[in-house]
Amino acid sequence: MAKTVGIGVTGGIAAYKIADLVSRLKKEDIDVIVIMTEAATKFITPLTFKTLSDREVLVDLWDDSKEWKVQHVGAAEQLDLLVIAPATANFIAKVAHGLADDLLSTIVLANTAPLLLVPAMNSNMYKNQAVQDNIKKLKDYGYMVMEPNSGVLACGVTGQGRLPEIDQIYAEIKRLLFPKQDLLGKRVMVNAGTTCEDIDPVRFIANRSTGKMGFSIAQDAQTRGADVILVCGNSPLEPPLGVEFVPVWGAEEMCEVMQKYQPACDIIIGAAAVGDFRIKTRAEQKMKKTGNASEELVLTLVGTPDILKTLGKNKKPKQIMVGFAAETENILENAKKKLDSKNLDFIVANDVTMEGAGFSSDTNIVTFISRNGEIESLPKMSKQDVAAAILDKVVKLL
Ligand code: PMT
Repeated sequence: MAKTVGIGVTGGIAAYKIADLVSRLKKEDIDVIVIMTEAATKFITPLTFKTLSDREVLVDLWDDSKEWKVQHVGAAEQLDLLVIAPATANFIAKVAHGLADDLLSTIVLANTAPLLLVPAMNSNMYKNQAVQDNIKKLKDYGYMVMEPNSGVLACGVTGQGRLPEIDQIYAEIKRLLFPKQDLLGKRVMVNAGTTCEDIDPVRFIANRSTGKMGFSIAQDAQTRGADVILVCGNSPLEPPLGVEFVPVWGAEEMCEVMQKYQPACDIIIGAAAVGDFRIKTRAEQKMKKTGNASEELVLTLVGTPDILKTLGKNKKPKQIMVGFAAETENILENAKKKLDSKNLDFIVANDVTMEGAGFSSDTNIVTFISRNGEIESLPKMSKQDVAAAILDKVVKLL
């Protein structure tokens, strides 16, 4: 069935580039509904988009639509994907706060299809904390946000804020509209987030993992047709849609749950930051200080189960297991040891001291190390793209 994509154009200088995007999508027989904000019409005329999309362009919230009884609801219902490009700082703020004061923002709220935002603006505006907080909010809502490119901007400044190349946006739209189904019928278990080990009823030991890496893998596997179980320690993220979400607390619980599901799984991916130690004896009551500022507290720690090692011992024939190695030194050497000791098919090493890699960031810089000694280093990529690369490699092994 033909796909319909909504292209929301907001008022930035990059708006003119979207004409090319619309033209390319139409050539692929994709139905394109262009929705413009008033500000966007100052940069490029609706007539350009009307001609290229072969459809009325939607601008005014109060227009009487011939096509739909209630314009913003009717238009939203048609969409397989909604893309906002360029997304200005103002429009990003509106979406982050649920405002609905023009046609495009009402369509965003009425829309239930995936939403992709493509920010483009001056680099200082992009770096501004308020804009970054709004972008973070959008991601937490489950919306996809493309990273702007760096280079010379229309305002003359050099920095990050350029609209990604139309080729990149087009490729992303194609990937979202026609996702690969190469994991159809496969059962994938992913773990993510940090495990937590209680000290007393109110305190625990954890680490800096947010779950972003594991959630991206779970989400991509689900999009590619797999049945996905996401076993998750502590994480502030919303569970991805369509995934069986199993929350856990400590390493022992995570291990038990994963052992239970292991026999039914074709693929197991360990992205969680599992604590290697727990408190030997958890205090029953909240531990009290004596009031003496120089007092010392000694906690005795004991090891937790190595989850992947445990699963690796019971690996079924043809079951694929992938682990991560979070390293701060001797990256390849340490990662190779983990690959062998946990009986993995390949390991994803990340140097967690590098900027834009490892814990918390939206990006990662990884190296794949395979059992046959093959080493493949990837550049800095969004965690979504790293997830896609991991699953591409898994598919080749199936
Ligand atoms: O969650 P994010 O904020 O997005 O951060 C992503 C990440 C940095 C957590 C992720 O990219 C990552 O590196 N995950 C693995 C973290 C880790 O525990 O690495 P490790 O080198 O200590 O462990 C090696 C492998 O064994 C990992 O797959 C780990 O899940 C697993 N392990 C470790 C200890 C243990 N007791 N049981 C395990 O199964």
